[in-house]
Order: sequence, then structure tokens, then C-alpha cells
Amino acid sequence: MDWEKFIDKKTKEIKEIVSSGKAISVLSGGVDSSTVTILGHRALGNRLKTIFINNGLMRENEAENIVKTFKKLGIKVEVIDAKDKFFKALKGKADPEEKREAITKTFYGDVFKNVLKKSKVKFLLQGTILTDIEETVAGIKRQHNVLAQIGISPEKEYGYQVTEPLKELRKAEVRKVARTLGTPKSITERMPFPGPALAARIIGEVTPEKIYIIKKATVIVEKELKNSEAFQYFPVLMDDKATGIRNSKREFGNIIIIRCVESLDARVATPKRLPWKILEKITKKITTEIPEVTRVCYDLTPKPPATIEYV
Ligand code: XMP
Repeated sequence: MDWEKFIDKKTKEIKEIVSSGKAISVLSGGVDSSTVTILGHRALGNRLKTIFINNGLMRENEAENIVKTFKKLGIKVEVIDAKDKFFKALKGKADPEEKREAITKTFYGDVFKNVLKKSKVKFLLQGTILTDIEETVAGIKRQHNVLAQIGISPEKEYGYQVTEPLKELRKAEVRKVARTLGTPKSITERMPFPGPALAARIIGEVTPEKIYIIKKATVIVEKELKNSEAFQYFPVLMDDKATGIRNSKREFGNIIIIRCVESLDARVATPKRLPWKILEKITKKITTEIPEVTRVCYDLTPKPPATIEYV
């Protein structure tokens, strides 16, 4: 594929669809939404409004880092704080699909709907990719950004039109588009991160306390495994607890699972054979720096039968 040609074609398409109007792009900081934002900015310039919705479920310093990275690219990112709304919507929900639905509804039906109302923008540029659509349609998992493909009309339900320039591509191809667009390496080589964010890495109910734990564990795992060359690596917080000992006292603490997989496009995946030393270091750091955790395990399950994420 000639990626320059692909970019020209998509730029033209975006121009035609949006015409003289304005569009909006919602950044999550991942490769897909970043690529779509840069593509949209190329097509529309300042007629593309870019926002980052802080749902409280993102990794540490995510909003600040994204604003900084995009500022360097000449793209202004507006941060919208909606943490409380998302935590309220997730309260009492333990079922994975219910959690996803709560996030989708809060995102599209509330926070984003209000943004659109205020800005009077009618077009949403979205970084949906082929794998998102396939898994949702197959009923494996409902990706939070897939609407039209499962019969929800954003135009009817929310009053705006969705444009998805990357929907024929898989992750590796999106990275090629991003590189061709001159996107910084910190984005193009970034590992995938799920739409429901850290909520996909907490089994059971999502609370601010659990987000605090998984955020801290994520910083440790991402730092220690950044040179692992794995496709994806992250911790997951279990819903169950396990007995531990701290300061000679019995403690019923949290369990963290480390997931680190090799994969080409996330359709199949194999656990990485990490050196024991690294796993020991991560375990020590997590149990020392996060006293709420008393047990750390490593996941040896390939995809299939497991998926990469836990929720
Ligand atoms: P799974 O867990 O289905 O994930 O093997 C496949 C790839 O997609 C990434 N990803 C998501 N996964 N919900 C998910 O469960 C999402 O909204 C989502 N967005 C992206 C996931 O991290 C893995 O790389």
C-alpha cells in the first residue's frame, strides 16, 4: 500500500464530508485516535477541534503528556474533566459488558453530547479500526467506539455524524500511516490501550481506590518492561483477595496479574518469556510501593483461549 496515497485519499474524503463545517476529534492518546487527529488536522486545520476527555480512568499524567505532545505538533488539545460522571456511572457495576456500556453511554450520551451541543459541531472523527469492528460484530467484546456497525445510529441518537477514516486498517497499518504523517515515535510506537482504559484492567466494580492501585502498578510495569519489545504489557487488578503477611501480621490483600504478550495485530497472542529477574523486580516494586497489594502473578495464557485484556 502507498501510504502517502492513502493519506491523500482520506484527507480529501474528510474535506468532502465536513465541507465548510467543523469537526471534532476526541483524543485518547493512543495510536488510533492520535493518527486520526493528525489526519483530520491536515484536512481541516483549525476547523478541527480536538478534545481529551479526562474520565479518571487514564494512566498517570496522561492528559498533561498528550497536551504537551500535540502542542509540539501545532494542535491545541482541550481537556474536559468528567471524572465524577464516569465514576458515578460505574458505581455498583461489576459485569464487564455493563461497565463498557456505562462508559459508552456516559461518553457519547452525556459528556460528549454536551461538548457537541456547546460547540455546534456536527462531525466526529473517530479512530475506529478493523479489529474493533470485527470483535464487536462477532460478539466477542463490545468496543466502546463501535456504534453504526451494531445498529446504533449516532445521528439519530446523538445528533452527529461519525467519520472513521481508519476503519479498513489494522494496528500495524495505522502505525505506518502515523509514521508517514510524521507523528512522533512516542505515539507511533505506543502500545495499544483499550477504549475503556484502566476500567478494562480492573475486575469487578471500578472505584477511585482501585484506579489508584492500578495506576501506580501501571507506572511500574510500563517502566520495567519498556525494553521488553513485547506487543503489550500491563497489570490487572483482581476482584478477589488473598492472604499475605506484612509486618508480621496477616493481611488479606489485593492480587495483581501481570500480562505481557507478543502479537502482530492482537488477533492472536503469546505470553512473553520474560526473565525471572525482571518478574521478581516488578513483584518486589509493586508489593513495596503499593501496600494494598500482597500478591503478584504472571499470566501464561495465550490468545485464544484468553483475550489480551481481562474485561
Ligand atoms: P482483546 O482483549 O480483545 O484485545 O484480545 C485486543 C486488542 O485491542 C485492544 N483494545 C481494546 N480491547 N476493549 C478491549 O477489550 C477496547 O475498547 C479496546 N480498545 C483497544 C487491546 O488492548 C488489545 O490490544
